[in-house]
Amino acid sequence: MSQSVNSQKIALITGASSGIGKALAEEFAAGGYHVILAARSVAPMESLAAELTRRHGLTATVIGADLESEAGARQLVADVRSRGLAISALANNAGYAAFGEFANSDLATELASMQLNMTAVVVLSKLFLPDLLANKGKILNTASTAAFQPGPYMAVYYATKAFVLSFSEAIAAELEGTGVTVTALCPGPTASGFQDRANMHNSGLVKGKKLPTAESVAAIGYRAMQNGERVVIPGAMNWLMAQSVRFAPRRVVTSMVKSMSKPV
Ligand SMILES: NC(=O)c1ccc[n+]([C@@H]2O[C@H](COP(=O)([O-])OP(=O)(O)OC[C@H]3O[C@@H](n4cnc5c(N)ncnc54)[C@H](OP(=O)(O)O)[C@@H]3O)[C@@H](O)[C@H]2O)c1
Repeated sequence: MSQSVNSQKIALITGASSGIGKALAEEFAAGGYHVILAARSVAPMESLAAELTRRHGLTATVIGADLESEAGARQLVADVRSRGLAISALANNAGYAAFGEFANSDLATELASMQLNMTAVVVLSKLFLPDLLANKGKILNTASTAAFQPGPYMAVYYATKAFVLSFSEAIAAELEGTGVTVTALCPGPTASGFQDRANMHNSGLVKGKKLPTAESVAAIGYRAMQNGERVVIPGAMNWLMAQSVRFAPRRVVTSMVKSMSKPV
């Protein structure tokens, strides 16, 4: 059963059209938030919004947004404001990877992913911070276990997630005492649209593996955000891997990731 909706609680979730973002929207709705769903694909978000409204009696707003540029992120802020909405939670979740050798991968795709995975996170966090400070709100940034070490065959992606983790922890420390908390959600490989978009079904990281569901990952992220945790890594093995890389030489760790990730 859903909790009652508090009019002060409005969450903006990016990448809400599929995967972890869609599941996060479900979590926020079940937790009593009105939700603003943002991504490029409007149709799946309209269906989700209708479903969430029906089940939880909340207001679900859909905003079509392409966040692969600073201008796109600024436009999303303007679109939220033009609806007279002030948010109390921001889930920077939209993101993607491109799998393949750097020598042959597509530069335009990599640069666009950097805009989405990093620039949009910074723009939205900064421009929504006044709302979040006023509402003692929460930021939930979807990083990845990729954040903890370099990632051959997804070199740019791993670097973007290291950025998200570092950025999240740094602003969490700056915001101590303000009432605003920042949580970095660091999932390992998760069943979602991610593998299709990254074209990575032949990577040893996912091929033949049973991956956790986006719903299970989102539930862990949402709970950690509610508890004000700074970093959460779903799954005991993922947690162990993330800790163990701190004690091994980086060259060794990078070689291990290379052999785990390579096409099989
Ligand atoms: N799945 C994994 O194995 C895994 C592991 C660790 C971390 N993550 C992270 O989890 C987050 C969510 O990914 P997912 O696994 O849920 O993958 P997903 O199912 O592919 O979802 C990605 C979401 O990002 C949105 N998106 C993509 N490009 C966009 C753009 N230009 N502008 C706005 N939104 C855009 C997509 O919507 P549209 O295409 O409709 O725009 C979609 O809603 C990402 O940050 C990803 O890096 C995933």
